Amino acid sequence: MSDFAQSVKQQADIVRIIGEYVRLRKAGAQNYSGLCPFHKEKTPSFSVHSTRQFFHCFGCGVSGDVFTFIQKIENVSFPEAVRFVAQKCGIPLPKREFSSEEEAQEGRLRARLLELHEIACTWFEEQLRSPEGALAREYLSGRGLRPEDMKTFRIGYAPDNFHALRERMQALANTEILRLSGLFSFREQEDGSPGPLYSRFRKRVTFPIANESGRIIAFTARALEAGEKAGPKYLNSPETPLYSKSNVLFNLDKARQAIRELNFAVLVEGQMDCISAYLAGVRNVIATSGTAFTEAQVRLLGRYTKQVIVNFDPDKAGANAAEKSIALLTEEGFQVRVVTLEGGLDPDRYIREQGPKAYIAALRGAKRYQDYLVERARQLYPPNTASAKIEALNFLLPHIRRIPNRIARDEFAADAAQKLGIDSALVREELKQAAAKRRDTLASARPAVSEAEKMMLRALASPPASAEFQAAAAAFDANGTYFAGLTVSHILGLLRHRNAQEPMDVLADPRDRSLLAQALMDELSPLDTEHVAAALETLRRRYLERRQRELRTAIAEAERRGDSASVLRLTAEKMQVDRDLRA
Ligand code: GTP
Ligand code: MN
Repeated sequence: MSDFAQSVKQQADIVRIIGEYVRLRKAGAQNYSGLCPFHKEKTPSFSVHSTRQFFHCFGCGVSGDVFTFIQKIENVSFPEAVRFVAQKCGIPLPKREFSSEEEAQEGRLRARLLELHEIACTWFEEQLRSPEGALAREYLSGRGLRPEDMKTFRIGYAPDNFHALRERMQALANTEILRLSGLFSFREQEDGSPGPLYSRFRKRVTFPIANESGRIIAFTARALEAGEKAGPKYLNSPETPLYSKSNVLFNLDKARQAIRELNFAVLVEGQMDCISAYLAGVRNVIATSGTAFTEAQVRLLGRYTKQVIVNFDPDKAGANAAEKSIALLTEEGFQVRVVTLEGGLDPDRYIREQGPKAYIAALRGAKRYQDYLVERARQLYPPNTASAKIEALNFLLPHIRRIPNRIARDEFAADAAQKLGIDSALVREELKQAAAKRRDTLASARPAVSEAEKMMLRALASPPASAEFQAAAAAFDANGTYFAGLTVSHILGLLRHRNAQEPMDVLADPRDRSLLAQALMDELSPLDTEHVAAALETLRRRYLERRQRELRTAIAEAERRGDSASVLRLTAEKMQVDRDLRA
C-alpha cells in the first residue's frame, strides 16, 4: 500500500463510511453490526471494528478494510477506492496519483466531459420547465409522468434549436472538447476536418444515462413526433471517451442497491419501461436500451446478482433479444426467468393499463426460462408434423447444450422431448453427439462462441492494415496460450496468417465459415481498438481461470503422490495466476 493510501486509511473512519451504506448498530465497545450488503440476510452478521478498521461478515465471509469495502460496494479498483475515500474525508489527492502523463490527460478529459454532461443535463431540465418545453411536458404527463418523476430521472427537453446548447457551453470548453462530448453533431468538411458544431438532440425529450455511480455519461433522446422528418424514435449519444453503449445498463445506478438486497434484477428493453417499472415500485429494474444483452453488460450485472427476470417486448424483435440474452446469461451461470405480459403489451403500457399491482403479480409469475423457450419453440414450429418437431427441437438444442450442469441439462432435454411429443431417446442421442463433437474440438466447456471471441474474429477479418487487425494480430502472436482451446482458435490462426485473401476464402470447413459469418453479422458492439482490447482482456481472464482450474487439479494430484517439489512449483504458479486474476 502506498504511503498515501496508508495515510487515508488511518484518517478515514470506517464506521462512518460503511455507515453510509449499511445501518450499523453498536454491538460492543468497538464494534458495530448490521445487515450484510453483500448477501441477503435477515439477522445481522456483518460487523465493523472501529479501531482495527476492518469489517467482516460471519454469514458470507467477506472481510477487509475500508478500501475493500468501497471496492466491492462501488465496484471500483483499489486506486479508485483510495481516491474515493480520500475525497469523502476531505483529504487532498497528491499530485502524482496518476501513473503517467497520458493517464492524467485522460483523467482530465473525462472529468471535463463529466462536467459538461452535468451542465447539459441541468440545461435540458431547465428547457423542459421553460415555455418552450410545454409540448414535451404535455407529452411526458400524457405518458403518466408527474413533475417529481421527471426530476427523479432528470428528464429534460432538447429544444428545436441548432445553436442554443452550443451557446450555453461555448465559454466552458474548447471546440475539440465539445466535439468529443458527443452532445453535438457536425459535418465533415472537404479537407476532412469537422465543420461547425450543432445540437445533436433537437425537439426531443432527453433521458440522461448514468454510470454505476450516478454520473451522467450520455443521453438518449426520444423524438416528440413520429415520422420521417423527426428521425429515429430514440437517438443516443455516440461512443465517447465516457460512454460505450455495450458497457452500460440504464438505471443501474439507481437500481444497484435494490438488486443487491433482493438478489435479483428485472431486465427490460426500453428506458420508458424501466422508468415506469421503477416508479411502480420495482426498484431493481434495469434496461438494455433496445438491444440484446452484451457480454460486458452481463459481467457488469454479475457483480450484483446472478438472478434475472427478463421482461422484453412480446414482439419478434423482443423475443429475439430475449433469446440472445437468455443464452448469454445462462452461459455465464445466471438463473433466468422470463415474463411475457398479457395482451402483447410492453412493461410501460402494461403498468399504465393494468396498474403496478398487476405488474408486480406478473413478475411473481415469471416462468423458468426453459418453459419459456419450449413454449416459444411450440409457437414457432407447432409440433403437428414430424418435421416441425425436428425444427422445434433444433431451436431448443443450442440452449440445452449450453447448460453447464449435466443433470439440469438432461432434465431440460426430457422436458422438451415430452412437451414436443418427441421420443426422449432421440433427444438424448442428439445431445450425446453434440457433446462428443464438442470434446473433439475444444478442451474447455464453452460450447457457444463468446462475444470476446466474436470480437477477435471480426478484428482479424478486417483488412490487415487496419488498426483493429494489427492490435488483434499483435496479441495473437504474443499470447498464443490465451487462444488455445477456444472454439475459434484455428479460425483465428487462419485469419491472422492470410495474406491478401478475403477472410472467408481461407476457411474450408463450412461450419467455420458460418461461425465467422455469424460473428461478422452480429454487430452488437462497435469494432474498434478499444473493444478489441476489452475482448483480449476477457480472453486473458478466461485463460487464467482455465489455468487456475488445471493447477488446482494438478496440485491435488501432486499432493496425493507426495510430490512436494511439484506441489510447491504448482502452488507458486497458481498464486501468480490468482494475482493476475485479481489485478
Ligand atoms: P416508447 O415508444 O418511448 O415507449 O419506446 P419503447 O421502449 O416502447 O420502444 P421500442 O419497443 O420500439 O424500443 C425499445 C428500445 O429500443 C427503446 O427504449 C430504445 O432504447 C431502443 N430504440 C427504439 N427505437 C430506437 C431508434 O430508433 N434508435 C435507437 N438507437 N434505439 C431505439
Ligand atoms: Mn413503449
